[in-house]
Amino acid sequence: MATPHQSNPIWLLILFCCYYFILSEKVEVVEATRRNFFNPQSSDSTIVSSVYRTSYHFQPPHNWINDPNGPMYYKGIYHLFYQYNPKAAVWGNITWGHSVSTDMINWIPLDIALNPTKPFDIDGCWSGSATILPSLNKPVILYTGSNQEKHQAQNIAFPKNLSDPYLIEWIKPDEYNPVMSATGDINPAQFRDPTTGWMGSDGYWRVALGAEIGGVGMALLYKSKDFVRWERADKPLHSPRGSGMWECPDFYPVALEGKRGMETSLNSEDVKHVLKMSLGETHSDHYLLGRYDEEKDMFIQDNEEKEKNYRFWRRYDYGNFYASKSFFDAGKERRILWGWSNESDSKPDDIAKGWAGIQTIPRMVWLDENGKQLVQWPIKELESLRRKRVHFHDIELKAGGLLNIKGVKASQMDVDVEFELPSLEKAGPFDSLLALDPQVLCEKGNFSTQSGIGPFGLLVMTSLNKDELTAIYFKIFEAYDRHVVLMCSDQRRSSLRPELYLPVYGGFVDIDIEKERRISLRTLVDHSVVESFGGEGRTCMTARVYPAFLVTSKAYLHAFNNGSETIRILHLNAWNMAKPSINVAQDQFLI
Ligand SMILES: *[C@@H]1O[C@H](CO)[C@@H](O)[C@H](O)[C@H]1NC(C)=O
Ligand SMILES: *[C@@H]1O[C@H](CO)[C@@H](O)[C@H](O)[C@H]1NC(C)=O
Ligand SMILES: *[C@@H]1O[C@H](CO)[C@@H](O)[C@H](O)[C@H]1NC(C)=O
Ligand SMILES: *[C@@H]1O[C@H](CO)[C@@H](O)[C@H](O)[C@H]1NC(C)=O
Ligand SMILES: *[C@@H]1O[C@H](CO)[C@@H](O)[C@H](O)[C@H]1NC(C)=O
Repeated sequence: MATPHQSNPIWLLILFCCYYFILSEKVEVVEATRRNFFNPQSSDSTIVSSVYRTSYHFQPPHNWINDPNGPMYYKGIYHLFYQYNPKAAVWGNITWGHSVSTDMINWIPLDIALNPTKPFDIDGCWSGSATILPSLNKPVILYTGSNQEKHQAQNIAFPKNLSDPYLIEWIKPDEYNPVMSATGDINPAQFRDPTTGWMGSDGYWRVALGAEIGGVGMALLYKSKDFVRWERADKPLHSPRGSGMWECPDFYPVALEGKRGMETSLNSEDVKHVLKMSLGETHSDHYLLGRYDEEKDMFIQDNEEKEKNYRFWRRYDYGNFYASKSFFDAGKERRILWGWSNESDSKPDDIAKGWAGIQTIPRMVWLDENGKQLVQWPIKELESLRRKRVHFHDIELKAGGLLNIKGVKASQMDVDVEFELPSLEKAGPFDSLLALDPQVLCEKGNFSTQSGIGPFGLLVMTSLNKDELTAIYFKIFEAYDRHVVLMCSDQRRSSLRPELYLPVYGGFVDIDIEKERRISLRTLVDHSVVESFGGEGRTCMTARVYPAFLVTSKAYLHAFNNGSETIRILHLNAWNMAKPSINVAQDQFLI
């Protein structure tokens, strides 16, 4: 992995700006460097092409990545660590890759921060979190190490040199590690992913981590006076008995009002707490809202009855998004969420591409006005990449209507549209048996012109003859007491390449459509990524797509309405997106 020279943050900034400028001029040139090659390991000669590589999502130059780890904002710099195999584009030999940024859009790659070098992490340095100890203004990392026996334990690491603005080197002191071991009833093969620490009013630090005891997943609680010696609390932070192993728990407060983020230790009448867990069995990130009862040292979820079965739990993202982690950005007083999106092609394709996995665009996260769900929105900084804009407003989309949106580079863009529904009368009946299965509802829809409201939405990554396309759309149903809004991201027609995984994603959008009569959709398209935010960020869906046409031709963008009721586009904005500098080695930087 490339190491930059040590330079001060001012230089960092100037370099960013220069490079930024050069790159914004180069957007169109990227296309010219495409190449394709045949994958010898695949029985079919699959096309694997660099056209699938993203331009403005976080990736290292090569190899496998998974979970975001230890994100933090420290002394003016954002740090992102990530699960990284420095040897190959498949999972294994896991280390902590490390990059720094001043805007979370442009990133400088650093040396690997944690390598498996000690008996307690020799089988891999797995996920964990960073905590900034306020009394010392010093960051610490807690991470999971897997040892020779493949037993998991939590370890601590400190920056070697606090004067180094990038915190390049980290030490793993032998005198403390491991700091939490799987004792008693804990399954040592399912004991991992410590959260950021929070301090209670008794002055003790707490962290939660994922564990399995007797086949049940839970967030165990550990306490410490000095952050170095930890003891397991009598009771878990939470264990609803509704699911198997919980990976990558995250626990943080959100303000009852407003979008302002909260420091992780904060607890008061004015906040709710979020407990997120990544469920191995569903490969998705679910969260519960509730309150943190400090006396009991437990998370008490709202709506206890309903929350016993994880199928009722809300999801951050109804698509390809896993092992997420949030942090409090003290610079801008907001909470930021990172998630990993894996490839949906095959392992031989990943090996042929030489890379696998991306981080989604960092999202700001806050509590919805209704207090019942979180809202997520791409960080404002992303808008600095917007270039040429195409704009439409007040357009009627009649039944079967299709609007071709010309003039935008549809494989690397940001599109934001607001639809208005003049009438809800034709909404079709809601099948309440599928109230827990929005994905099945989306699968049942077959795209053809139908009676009812919707499907209406966007067709992205569309080939000229439309034999390949990805549809992101809404459909409105009438339930006995209200209207239900369904959002789908349908990848079934996203690629003609054989044997690809082509899922349909679905989720409900919890808005009062009778009152609002309008719904927005923002979609970030970046080659193989289609990241969508419905209802102003109330329902999110990330998809990975690998259309064959992209190797030789350009992508198109359409708005469509296949319902029988006319829909209005109040406005639609689509921007070409510039390519920022993401993990480009410093020597290349200076060319
Ligand atoms: C892990 O590293 C070893 C040593 O370099 C290498 O032989 C092996 O292929 C790697 N495994 C994976 C899965 O990358
Ligand atoms: C610590 O980092 C600072 C700033 O980069 C550097 O000047 C100093 O030499 C480093 N100290 C050691 C012991 O490496
Ligand atoms: C990754 O991709 C595959 C499809 O290739 C999918 O089935 C799997 O659940 C994905 N997610 C994770 C977290 O591995
Ligand atoms: C798709 O839906 C339409 C209308 O609901 C129906 O007439 C048609 O048979 C369906 N097509 C398929 C392939 O299921
Ligand atoms: C809309 O319906 C038509 C006619 O049934 C169908 O050919 C087309 O694929 C549908 N559009 C979309 C976006 O699915």
